[in-house]
Amino acid sequence: MKSIKPEELQKNTFSMIGKEWLLVTACKEGKVNTMTASWGGLGVMWGKNVAFIVLRPQRYTKEFVDAGETFSLSVLDESYRKTLSYLGTVSGRNEDKVAKSGLTVTEEDGTPYFEEANTVLVCRKLYAQPYDPSCFIDKSCDEKWYPEKDYHTMYIAEIEKVLVR
Ligand SMILES: Cc1cc2nc3c(=O)[nH]c(=O)nc-3n(C[C@H](O)[C@H](O)[C@H](O)COP(=O)(O)O)c2cc1C
Repeated sequence: MKSIKPEELQKNTFSMIGKEWLLVTACKEGKVNTMTASWGGLGVMWGKNVAFIVLRPQRYTKEFVDAGETFSLSVLDESYRKTLSYLGTVSGRNEDKVAKSGLTVTEEDGTPYFEEANTVLVCRKLYAQPYDPSCFIDKSCDEKWYPEKDYHTMYIAEIEKVLVR
């Protein structure tokens, strides 16, 4: 893979995150876990190019993202759709998803990602905050998405590297 500047990324953010989906991958005590994500964004914050993602408290991947300073966002081709669905349905708490997925873990500066990815964002955490129900201006978002009150934590992370195939 080659490294490009975030400004050189050709993908449309909305399709990349919302339609192609991301694999959020992080390492904790030498173990790697990953999960599918289709919510988040790319932008500029505090003078840095950033990605933001949201993780519900029950995600095993959250423990991995919380444990380290970095995580990666991998984008895979359409041919991996079934794998992405699997990684977004089963928890790494219950089975060794990464091994079963057949994907190949590799790393960039100590941050794990998948060799099969067409695009990878290596991210360094800057900020994390659980969504606060009292802050919803449109209360219907709260009612629709949080009947269990399992509010996402939002992570804003600096994009340290963009790798493309
Ligand atoms: C298409 C898709 C998008 C998802 N997006 C998110 C997301 O943005 N945030 C989140 O917390 N969970 C999201 N999930 C759910 C997690 O991927 C799922 O619960 C996964 O099994 C968690 O695995 P883990 O427990 O090993 O971390 C999504 C699932 C799918 C299938």
